[in-house]
Amino acid sequence: MKFFFNLLLFVSSVCAFKYERLNKNDTVFVILDLQVGLFSIARDFDPIVYRNAIYAHAEMAKVFGTPVVITSSTQMGPNGPLPQDFLDMFPSAPFIQRPGQVNAWDNEDFRKAIEATGKKQIVMAGITTDVCTSFCALSMREAGYSVFLNAEASGTTTSFIRDISNARMQAAGVQILSTFAVLSELMRDWRDYPGAKEIFPYLDKYYPAYSMVARAHTGAIKNGTILAGEDLLH
Ligand SMILES: *[C@@H]1O[C@H](CO)[C@@H](O)[C@H](O)[C@H]1NC(C)=O
Ligand SMILES: *[C@@H]1O[C@H](CO)[C@@H](O)[C@H](O)[C@H]1NC(C)=O
Repeated sequence: MKFFFNLLLFVSSVCAFKYERLNKNDTVFVILDLQVGLFSIARDFDPIVYRNAIYAHAEMAKVFGTPVVITSSTQMGPNGPLPQDFLDMFPSAPFIQRPGQVNAWDNEDFRKAIEATGKKQIVMAGITTDVCTSFCALSMREAGYSVFLNAEASGTTTSFIRDISNARMQAAGVQILSTFAVLSELMRDWRDYPGAKEIFPYLDKYYPAYSMVARAHTGAIKNGTILAGEDLLH
């Protein structure tokens, strides 16, 4: 009997799922090689959508006031610089220009910059998903960090390559999230700070799918009327 009880305990402990949520107090954002040259090989998203996504990634860190670590890979070559906007957005964030290391974790200054934040949850997005992003994410997992990939802001050449790369990271315990999921998990409650008041202007810029609903809701309350037939819809 005791044996079966212990077996049951063992099985339930193996199967138990622990939901690790993003905690804005324990998060650092990584802007990884979102460089203007590399942008041209991020072809798994429409360029307008993808440009929006990398700005959404950076600005989310600003909304939540989390620390940011910025890095670029051999930016004197074809990879090119980062959009200046990112550097202007975070003038005091550490910016590590890697002279050659493909995996940012191979660069001591980058490792030290992450360690100096004291944060254990990494929210990252990079180009390309299969190389710079995957390599760094896997190394960070090995180093004991929790890694959350903002998958919409990570780009690569094809959706096939994106999918196998995300699967590889996922197998190493990297959580693969949409931008809206990162945002909402960090916020947790509309009544918190940052909450509805700070998040709606952000959504209007980067997630109009929801802000337009909010506009419609506002319009309806301020000066709306129920049209004939609408009241038949329950
Ligand atoms: C973050 O820290 C603040 C201030 O200490 C605290 O009120 C809040 O509950 C913390 N949030 C989370 C998600 O732990
Ligand atoms: C409110 O609705 C009425 C009727 O549709 C319209 O004439 C008026 O211009 C609206 N007012 C505002 C402030 O939108």
